[in-house]
Amino acid sequence: MTAVPVTNQNFRMAWSQFGTGVTVITTLEPGGKVHGMTANGVVSVSLDPPLALACIGHNRNSYPLIKMNQRFAISILNTEQRNVAIHYTNPPVQRGPDDAIPFVKLGESMAIGGSLAAMDCRVISEHEEGDHTLFVAEVEQLVLGEGEPMLWMQGKFGRFTAD
Ligand SMILES: Cc1cc2nc3c(=O)[nH]c(=O)nc-3n(C[C@H](O)[C@H](O)[C@H](O)COP(=O)(O)O)c2cc1C
Repeated sequence: MTAVPVTNQNFRMAWSQFGTGVTVITTLEPGGKVHGMTANGVVSVSLDPPLALACIGHNRNSYPLIKMNQRFAISILNTEQRNVAIHYTNPPVQRGPDDAIPFVKLGESMAIGGSLAAMDCRVISEHEEGDHTLFVAEVEQLVLGEGEPMLWMQGKFGRFTAD
């Protein structure tokens, strides 16, 4: 191991070694259209009550929408949903139409159909930290699906292999 300066690039490099699942966080635009973004900055916080956390950058289009709606869905993606993950990593102007995205209603949110799991989340607190806000939310509805989990590590989407 080698000590390196805590630069933006080295910080990103360090965290790219931390493999995660892949989710899409969806919330509604004022006209009712579904707005999504790919996110791995999510975590389970508490079992009782069931709380989850989403870490949203202040320069994301999703940020003011979640702040306004106080509600979002988390959809945990499987390996068949790679196109959905890529679609929502791009800035909205580059995404093209979302006609092929199989949205499903989940409580007061819209989630991505066919996911491994999806949750309708109501924000209960917000914590502004650096250039992100941590939205802590109560999970009000939950659906479970099937498939192989999609992972993100070292800047790539992939799959899990058990030893
Ligand atoms: C694997 C992956 C995970 C990401 N996780 C997050 C995240 O947790 N929070 C965040 O603010 N952006 C995250 N992003 C970046 C957003 O997906 C990206 O900026 C997206 O275009 C934002 O969309 P929006 O501006 O419409 O909200 C991630 C990108 C990738 C590729």
